[in-house]
Amino acid sequence: MPIRRVSSLAIFFLGLAVSAESQQKQIKYVPVKSTSRTSAQEMYTAYCAVCHGVDGKGRGPAAEALRVAPSDLTMLAKRNGGMYPSDHVTSSIRGDSHLPAHGAREMPAWGREVFWRMSQGQTSEVQLRVSNLNRYIESLQAK
Ligand code: HEC
Repeated sequence: MPIRRVSSLAIFFLGLAVSAESQQKQIKYVPVKSTSRTSAQEMYTAYCAVCHGVDGKGRGPAAEALRVAPSDLTMLAKRNGGMYPSDHVTSSIRGDSHLPAHGAREMPAWGREVFWRMSQGQTSEVQLRVSNLNRYIESLQAK
């Protein structure tokens, strides 16, 4: 299988760079940092906070450079009649829930692309990362 030959350097992630001349924020691709598959907080800080904010409220430093505002991840349960939409979160993180009709995807397909390559195609590791992040986001829900 060719996936075995993908090195971690081939994995890219969106980072933030502020260009000095224009003073405009630009999204820049930087190599993805490796994180522990079991530490959701470490993954969240490394991969999600740049857009969704450390507190999950959608005000990370890259947010204003995006066309679509990052969701307030603390309001998912409230917006869903008090029920945390776990399946929806899983498919959002995996990158499955975006239909082309919904416009350009601003959020990387973490599960299907980044975590998949990071684990060299090991489905169980991808699932572990996604479910740990899912539980972490559940813990951020506004009461
Ligand atoms: C480059 C910016 C960016 C990064 C990084 C990012 N997101 Fe997002 N995310 C978005 C945007 C923009 C949306 C909403 C618009 C959309 O559907 O594309 C979104 C939507 C979501 C949703 C769906 C919420 C809803 O309202 O239905 C979840 C869940 C989510 N992100 C989780 C994560 C997690 C977990 C990470 C880290 C692994 C992450 N995001 C990293 C930009 C980002």
